Amino acid sequence: MKLSKRAANISSSPTLAIDAKAKQLKADGAKVFNFGVGEPDFDTPQHIKDAAIEAINAGMTKYTPVAGTVQLKQAVIDKFKRENGLSYEAAQIIASSGAKHSLYNVFQVLVEEGDEVIIPTPYWVSHMEQIKIPGGKPVVVMTSEENGFKMTPEQLQEAITPKTKVVLLNSPSNPTGAVYSKEELEVLGNIILKHDNITIISDEIYEKLVYDNMEHVSIASISEELKERTVVINGVSKAYSMTGWRIGYAAAPLEIAKAMANLQSHSTSNPSSIAQAASVAALSGTQQPVEDMKVEFVKRRDYMLERLLAIPGISCPKPNGAFYLFPNVSAYFGKSYNGKPINSATDLAAVLLEEVQVAVVPGVAFGNDDFMRFSYATDMDTITEAMNRIEKLLAEVK
Ligand SMILES: Cc1ncc(COP(=O)(O)O)c(C=O)c1O
Repeated sequence: MKLSKRAANISSSPTLAIDAKAKQLKADGAKVFNFGVGEPDFDTPQHIKDAAIEAINAGMTKYTPVAGTVQLKQAVIDKFKRENGLSYEAAQIIASSGAKHSLYNVFQVLVEEGDEVIIPTPYWVSHMEQIKIPGGKPVVVMTSEENGFKMTPEQLQEAITPKTKVVLLNSPSNPTGAVYSKEELEVLGNIILKHDNITIISDEIYEKLVYDNMEHVSIASISEELKERTVVINGVSKAYSMTGWRIGYAAAPLEIAKAMANLQSHSTSNPSSIAQAASVAALSGTQQPVEDMKVEFVKRRDYMLERLLAIPGISCPKPNGAFYLFPNVSAYFGKSYNGKPINSATDLAAVLLEEVQVAVVPGVAFGNDDFMRFSYATDMDTITEAMNRIEKLLAEVK
């Protein structure tokens, strides 16, 4: 039996090793302080759950149109209009089983063997793999702490070649929390517009989690020309604590939208009818739960950042969005703890887990192993105790 080339090229998630170890420790009865999670720790708001229960009782338990119900499409259209100043028609909206699925669809219909996709790095691990599945060539643009982990216009210009098919943007970013301003997007957008064959995929799943009076701007909203070049990806997972419901959506130029719906019609068909009804309530109902969640996230981010920056050798730009901190831990490389050598974030993450039961994701998962990703989607008591443990351990690294 021989697997397809496509399957052989897919890397297993580098986060899995740490995750498996964390789960093993937990199963053995240890308390694990988990900073690895990529989902809000809050419950789905009650009015959203109620909408799902009503949908079940009303018999909304059958197939829906492949790209989503009329009601969900309308809620998405209204959301884009109200919050992003973007006008779409129903045929341009495709609801899928999570934003990850939306991304999968769009990479499948746009990217061919050998096409280049510009991916600002640190990147989210699934972005990288989804480029590779259809045979795309990831063009890594390494951003720096000094630039707040944002791709500069010069870097973009340099990375573009006649083979560039897609520029991927993810603001706010997983893993760095970087948020691009309108001006920054405008400059990047103008560079892209000079090249007729480039489409922008803009992953805006963390849109609602933006802090410090920053504003989320969709690059599609900057001009009609950019809108015609952009596929916007969004979803309900992060904003409404709905990771398990699996609803994401895309807004795309008509030709791309049609191709995505066709592909989906032969793979998963419509996303869950019940989850679609819940998502209508999420998008159209009160946004107060999002505001409450943000207040809590800011408190945690500020506390954790203060604790991290108090540790000698650690640097970390203040992220304006998402729920991750991405500190540079390379000052600890070339040293050891209890005889265990530390030469990468992967080594340090293993030591943290084994010695003090703190789980973090090493930067290797995001294309730069000088860093580690700390999720603050966990409660303050856990954060406080875990930071005490990290501080103590790092003081003993020699
Ligand atoms: C940048 C980014 N895009 C997309 C997703 C996928 O979200 P969903 O749960 O809707 O598939 C995630 C989830 O971790 C993410 O971090």
